[in-house]
Amino acid sequence: MDDILLMLPGPTTVDPRVLAAMSKAVVNHRGAKYGEILTETTELMSKVFQTPNKSYLLTGSGTAAMEAAVANTVAPGEKMLNVVGGKFGERFMKIANTHGIESKELAVEWGTAVTPKQIEEALDADEDIKAVSVIHNETSTGVAAPIEEIGKVMRNYDALYIVDTVSSLGGDHVDVEKFGIDVCVTGSQKCLAAPPGMAAITLSDAAWDAVDKIETNTYYLDMKAARKSGDKNPPETPYTPSVSLTYAMNEALKIVMEEGLENRVARHHKAAKASVEAVKALGLELFADEAVSSATVTAVKMPEGVTDAEFRGTTRDKYGVELAGGQDHLKGNVFRIGHMGCISYKELVQTFAAIGMTLKGLGAIEDAGAGVASITESYL
Ligand SMILES: Cc1ncc(COP(=O)(O)O)c(C=O)c1O
Repeated sequence: MDDILLMLPGPTTVDPRVLAAMSKAVVNHRGAKYGEILTETTELMSKVFQTPNKSYLLTGSGTAAMEAAVANTVAPGEKMLNVVGGKFGERFMKIANTHGIESKELAVEWGTAVTPKQIEEALDADEDIKAVSVIHNETSTGVAAPIEEIGKVMRNYDALYIVDTVSSLGGDHVDVEKFGIDVCVTGSQKCLAAPPGMAAITLSDAAWDAVDKIETNTYYLDMKAARKSGDKNPPETPYTPSVSLTYAMNEALKIVMEEGLENRVARHHKAAKASVEAVKALGLELFADEAVSSATVTAVKMPEGVTDAEFRGTTRDKYGVELAGGQDHLKGNVFRIGHMGCISYKELVQTFAAIGMTLKGLGAIEDAGAGVASITESYL
């Protein structure tokens, strides 16, 4: 057993119940037993997405679902608008480009969130835009986009609303039906706290109309094939799924529903608020605009004179806490605390103790315990 505490924005600590579920016997993926587990799991998935529509599991990581979302609903040569305020917004751009889609970038400064008005203006300026992609929780910067408000704008346009909730579903408010999301994607290893390797996607009627109108631009991630197999009795997936990860997702989603979505989201928001306060108590600076800071990951500016290697190396090797670094131009300039999945005050106390002791050891702060004291106050 590895006793390193994972405080990453994925993968997150997996509940022993989920690990146990994965050790069940592997069954025929074209048989009744797998059909049953698949049906139950996709129904649970739709409950967590909060949609009356079917959900589909894809064997692959979150990026597979991002690619499925784009390649099935937008044809080569058509236009797509991508909000880019970090690494994952960029990924939608790259996926669209790879599929020959004319991708337009709506650039927002890293650390800030797109506004519904910006989306409205971009759509007013170009009526040929077929779809808009938004990252709900930009994991690279620790920013949450206002997806409910953007959804209200999107209702006035024909363009499809594609939302990546890879690092927010099960940790922040995501209501696919209410927010008017046409294509919603997520991954297993973040707030749902299952192991990495599975993704999920759900599509609205309008999105399925788009799927049916275009010639599918991907083979493995073809949603027409997924729908056809899913409609069989018993339901199947087009190609061999990860049976063990289906068990894992099933158990992880049951845990989510047992806790209750609202409770789980509130628990994540509490952890986020406590983390932000603790960061400030240590005299550190947030990377993201606090008004739009994420419910599941907090990005912190690296203190002057401290290197990423010595900081994260010490929290991990000396104090047993694994934090994430910055990505792209933020490498070395920020560190990120993932507080998603099975997170309570206990993990945050350990995390802020490790951060405080490390920074004091490196001579960057005076009071090693200020973060822990702040966490205890937040949870009193
Ligand atoms: C917001 C977001 N989208 C997409 C992804 C890609 O997921 P994966 O690494 O599982 O392919 C991630 C992973 O960190 C993410 O945080």
